[in-house]
Order: sequence, then structure tokens, then C-alpha cells
Amino acid sequence: MPFSILASAKGKPSLVRFEDVALRYGQGPEILKHISLQFDPGSYHFLVGASGAGKSSLLRMMYLAQHPSAGRVTLFGRDITGLSRHETALLRRRIGVVFQDFRLLDHLTARENVALPLRISGKADTRSDKDVEELLTWVGLADHMDALPPTLSGGQQQRVAIARAVIGRPNLLLADEPTGNLDDRMAVRLLYLFEELNKIGTTVVIATHNESLVRRFRHPATRLSDGEIVSPDATAGAEEYADAAVGGAASAERGGS
Ligand SMILES: Nc1ncnc2c1ncn2[C@@H]1O[C@H](COP(=O)(O)OP(=O)(O)O)[C@@H](O)[C@H]1O
Ligand SMILES: [Mg+2]
Repeated sequence: MPFSILASAKGKPSLVRFEDVALRYGQGPEILKHISLQFDPGSYHFLVGASGAGKSSLLRMMYLAQHPSAGRVTLFGRDITGLSRHETALLRRRIGVVFQDFRLLDHLTARENVALPLRISGKADTRSDKDVEELLTWVGLADHMDALPPTLSGGQQQRVAIARAVIGRPNLLLADEPTGNLDDRMAVRLLYLFEELNKIGTTVVIATHNESLVRRFRHPATRLSDGEIVSPDATAGAEEYADAAVGGAASAERGGS
């Protein structure tokens, strides 16, 4: 496992806190309302709900791309209202994001895309080339390190996006449907990467509609429906969802670790 590269991510506490938050886009209706939640440093949460429930919008507020139209959002102990551009940029450096639509830079290779957060934060050093290679190999892209994103499949691009999100050992990892383009075996492998990151201190928040993954990994789940939290823990009552598909791959992974 490539987690030597993630060592020492433990450190400063991360924290997400929403107090009666609402969000509307422009003059439209509130698409999120009465959202109150708190994610403690080092915790791991799933955010579940049907398409259109508001998962991506909630994550957008967590990485400061969107401000609430009502209520208060606190990140790392800072109220995000009134942050300067510079302060926003500094906070963002502590957050790794896997966007639902990947947002890779098409003119940079997979390797360069993954290395970008290290370069931006000034963390690139002689070790980082090796770290990038190790991580790309772990996500199954050893043969595609010098490929440009447009030549990669959706699942391959998603894995580059995941590698880019974790390479900087963020305090907070936000992943929006990070396994949406992956087969079950690869999805489980990637979730184990997030588990390892979490063990060394990263607070992890994963939006997904994949109930079998939520059941398998047994972290608290916040369920959204029509823009409201309907249950703080979706693992209860999820028995009807078959997890046979990922079961085999998960036990194989466990056996190997
Ligand atoms: N940029 C936007 N402008 C206007 N409405 C949006 C925008 N993004 C999302 N929405 C609306 O907000 C609601 C929640 O969307 P989203 O946060 O993408 O949900 P999910 O990620 O759970 O599918 C939907 O009704 C969607 O149409
Ligand atoms: Mg979404």
C-alpha cells in the first residue's frame, strides 16, 4: 500500500459545522434548507440521497465554492462569511476535492494533474515524483501516467481525480460520487484508500448514492431528501440493499492487508 506517502497527515484538526443553513441559486427556490450538521476532526461520513437531493450543493459549500443564503457555515473553526480571497485560498489548500465531473486539466498529463496540488502549495520536492507514481500505480494507472485526460476513459479520469485529491494529504477530503464511474472492485479499492487517509487523521466526506458501499464501510451517513436532512444515520434500515456485488472484492482486499 502506498500509505507511506500519506504519513504525518495527522495534525491540525479539521471541522465542518452547519447551523440551520439554507441555499438558493440566484432567485430560485431554496434547494437546501434547515441543514444542521457537525463533522468532528478525524471523522468519516457518507452523504446519501437520490439525484437532485442536494449532495453536490452541500459539498460546494464545504469547499467554499458557494456561500449559504441563510444560516452559518464554519470550516476549521472559521465562519466562512467574510473570508478574504487569500484566506479562502489558504483554507482550500487544506481540502482535497474529487469533483463529480473530475475537472482535470486536459493539457496536463495524469502525472502532472496529480502533482498540481503539491506544486501549488509549495510541497513539491524530490520525493513527490515518486509519491505521484506510487499513488497512480495504486489506483491502477501505472500504464497511463503520461496520458492526457481526454484520451482516458471516465473511470480512469475519475481515478486521476481521486489521486489528485489525496496526494496533498488534506485535512478534509470531499468526494462527490467518487466511485460513480468505477466497477465494484475498483470502487472498494478506492474506498480503502479513503479509509487509510482517514486513519491518519483526514476528515472524510463522501457523497454517494451507492447504498451497498455505505453498508459495507459502516460510517455514519447523513441522508438528504429534497434538500433536507431526513436521517442522520442511513445505515439503519438499509438491510434490503444487496451488497453481494462488492462482497467478494472487499473480502479479497481484507485478506490481502
Ligand atoms: N448551479 C445551479 N443553478 C441552479 N440550480 C442548481 C444548480 N446546481 C444544482 N441546482 C439544483 O439544486 C438541486 C440539487 O442539486 P445537486 O446539489 O446537484 O443534487 P445532487 O448532487 O444530490 O444530485 C437540484 O434541483 C438542481 O437542479
Ligand atoms: Mg451531485
